[in-house]
Amino acid sequence: MNNINKIKHQKIIDFIRSIYGEGFIPLHRPIFEGNERKYLVECIDSNFVSSVGRKVVEFEKYVADFTGAKFAIATVNGTAALQVSLQLVGVRQNDEVITQALTFIATCNAIHYIGAHPVFVDVDLDTMGLSPNALRDFLKEYAEIRDGYTINKTTGRRISACIPMHTFGIPCKIEEIRKVCDEWSIVLVEDMAESLGSYVGKSHTGTFGKIAALSFNGNKIITTGGGGIIITNDEELALRAKHIVTTAKVPHSYEFVHDEIGYNYRLPNLNAALGCAQMERLSEMLVIKADIAERYANFFASIGINFYYSPIGSAPNYWLNTIIFETAEERNDFLDFTNSQEVMTRPIWRLMSKLTMYDHCQRDSLRNSFWLEERVVNIPSSVPNSTLKLIS
Ligand SMILES: Cc1ncc(COP(=O)(O)O)c(C=O)c1O
Repeated sequence: MNNINKIKHQKIIDFIRSIYGEGFIPLHRPIFEGNERKYLVECIDSNFVSSVGRKVVEFEKYVADFTGAKFAIATVNGTAALQVSLQLVGVRQNDEVITQALTFIATCNAIHYIGAHPVFVDVDLDTMGLSPNALRDFLKEYAEIRDGYTINKTTGRRISACIPMHTFGIPCKIEEIRKVCDEWSIVLVEDMAESLGSYVGKSHTGTFGKIAALSFNGNKIITTGGGGIIITNDEELALRAKHIVTTAKVPHSYEFVHDEIGYNYRLPNLNAALGCAQMERLSEMLVIKADIAERYANFFASIGINFYYSPIGSAPNYWLNTIIFETAEERNDFLDFTNSQEVMTRPIWRLMSKLTMYDHCQRDSLRNSFWLEERVVNIPSSVPNSTLKLIS
């Protein structure tokens, strides 16, 4: 590493330590400083620890109220929520689903689980989310309408859905994406696993498409240990979602009848109890995260490094703060240096189109995706312990 970079990278570490203190600094850790223990004990005392229980319903109401969605259906994780969402909007075996190559593996796996094929289009540099222009260009070149269906002319398959993702909590250009999807009669499903608390205008992410999936994995802005949720404004979809994530059991006080193939994907009451306590603190966490992001933004501006901050027209949750280096070499030096100093940083995901399971999938040039893949780094972003008294 050259000396100028070494000095710059040490400055970054010093700044991160000024927020998070000494010792190992994780990328993102959960905070349990509210009613978590109390609600877990209530759950255990009630004997309702599994997928039936009051806390599951309460948790769903919290998330629906917070996001402004009419319905929320809790699931065992975000991947299951995505898989079920795709199935419910009518994606079938051998269909194609357009998504971004710059995403976490779960987006693609959910498509694969129902026998459909991912197709990758590029992202925008300013959001790291699916680009509406790339989507429009791809459809113009490769799609046509046949018998009311959108067909990929190269493969002959139906393109039934599009899943953009709000990367690291930064909203993608979802209104423009929705417009393109509407023009082509493609169902819009939002992967909002990372964007609880992120808005476009006054609307919460996840409320632009037909249905959306959230994750409450341990690394997310709030957590249920493991968990996910489907949100939608469509009552019929919501009822179907609840039915198939609870093994498609026909409600009855003692009979066991299942009327289709469902899944055991309902969130347990124990996890939901954790989620209720976490939801009570979400607004507060968002204020603290915005404060950390502002500090980072000012600091990185002062040393000439690009930091993702305050995009026009949207309000991110700053789940994982993100910087971009000018070269892959500097990025690698930074990752080596910070991790050797016990400050956890990590590169963005390897593109899905490079993974052996998905390298045969159709894609556009992915020019921006390749560029970002080499340069993007996440830096520590947790809400610090209240003892650190971040907000002065
Ligand atoms: C973009 C994205 N999609 C889907 C998921 C899947 O969520 P889960 O880990 O809860 O299955 C995650 C997170 O883990 C994610 O980051």
